[in-house]
Amino acid sequence: MEISVSILSIDYANIKTNLDKFSNDIKYLHLDVMDGRFVPNISFGPALIKSLRKNSHLIFDTHLMICNPEKYVEDFVKAGSDMITFHYEAVTNPKEIIELIHSYHVKAGISINPNTSVEVLEDILPYVDLVLIMSVHPGHGGQAFLSSAIDKVKYLKSKKEEKHYSYLISIDGGINDETLPLVFPYIDLAVSGSYIVQALDPQENLKKLMHISS
Ligand code: DX5
Ligand code: ZN
Repeated sequence: MEISVSILSIDYANIKTNLDKFSNDIKYLHLDVMDGRFVPNISFGPALIKSLRKNSHLIFDTHLMICNPEKYVEDFVKAGSDMITFHYEAVTNPKEIIELIHSYHVKAGISINPNTSVEVLEDILPYVDLVLIMSVHPGHGGQAFLSSAIDKVKYLKSKKEEKHYSYLISIDGGINDETLPLVFPYIDLAVSGSYIVQALDPQENLKKLMHISS
């Protein structure tokens, strides 16, 4: 299992210094894009991702919490995303968007909100590279983990084994040293934001998460 660190709650005034505190210890950086429509909050767009790309060899795991993601796929590819995840709730034809993302040779992920049942993804599972289960209502960092996500990652793990699918199982929201133990046997990638980026010692908290999963 790997950790993808979300920078949503980082101090942007000193972003390089703050990222340098843990960048050498991770493989994935989780980039939360919010449009103020799909979710009430607004975060950042491709320009920030493009700037970060110049100084980073990490895998850029872009999470689009936006309406009409198909309009912006190209921008996020050009900005340097290695994986692009969009929301099932934001689109009418998810398979078309997966194909669009794949046409740029970028990995495609699909995400569901806490109130969406995981079974709706059944027909899409053969085509995606990543499934992201939201364990908070998307929009803000620092919220409490919702335990309804546990059964969803269990379902995805058993489907993956049964059908020999290749997607990564990821979980996002409220992940810390108390909640990761509840899900780590079922997931490949844990997104953690405020627990790492707001810690006095981000490296130490990262080590705690890695220890749980080892
Ligand atoms: C929530 C975002 C998450 C969030 C994770 O809308 O998608 O990636 O930043 O942050 P924490 O770990 O603080 O819940
Ligand atoms: Zn996210």
